[in-house]
Amino acid sequence: MTEGPPSIKITLLGNPGVGKTCIISRYIDDVFEENNAPTIGANYSEKVINKNGKEYELNIWDTAGQEKFHALGKHFYKEAYVVCLVYDITSQESLEHLKTIWYPDLLKYGEKYTILAVVGNKSDLYEGDNLADENFAKEFAKEIGATFQLVSAKSGEGINKLFNTLVDRFLSPEFNPKYEEMMKLKGNTPTIQIENKKEGKGGKKKCC
Ligand code: GTP
Repeated sequence: MTEGPPSIKITLLGNPGVGKTCIISRYIDDVFEENNAPTIGANYSEKVINKNGKEYELNIWDTAGQEKFHALGKHFYKEAYVVCLVYDITSQESLEHLKTIWYPDLLKYGEKYTILAVVGNKSDLYEGDNLADENFAKEFAKEIGATFQLVSAKSGEGINKLFNTLVDRFLSPEFNPKYEEMMKLKGNTPTIQIENKKEGKGGKKKCC
């Protein structure tokens, strides 16, 4: 039996309607669907990518933003090593809720170390008025060690870059020891072998 490529779980969190489902559809199928039904519980999509000549399977989890599904949340935060905290750039409330609801939830139920991105979606609606406070978003991202990025699921702007940056950070030698530590705590063997470019030997870092 042949084994599939190692998988990397990526989870999107944020208020209802910020565009989590649309971001994923744009990334996976390069389409924009204007009228998605609200996500119930969570949905799961896969995409195989190639990084430095190796294949990885991205498992992308689209979680429901609606309050009534919050109780299910902790189940989806397990093994969420890569998380996008998504807000809508036209909604200050959706941004503030990242700080007061979604990130605290992740700290409570999620993993010890996580690669994070604060993502402002709907950048095609960027006009200057009625926008969420971008400095607040950038400061919050800095505080929690996240990257900050504006994207548009509608136009496609920034979407590939977002996922590429997340995967690069996950595969980086800086994150590798943290990932291995979390795996050891769980009594698991890491499924991802990370290239240790810093050693300059071009070899794979030995996984435990
Ligand atoms: P829940 O499933 O309820 O958590 O919502 P969600 O975050 O998955 O939002 P969804 O992707 O369903 O998008 C909500 C609405 O925002 C839809 O009407 C989309 O058409 C719209 N939308 C999503 N992304 C964009 C974008 O980049 N630009 C614009 N203008 N509208 C967008």
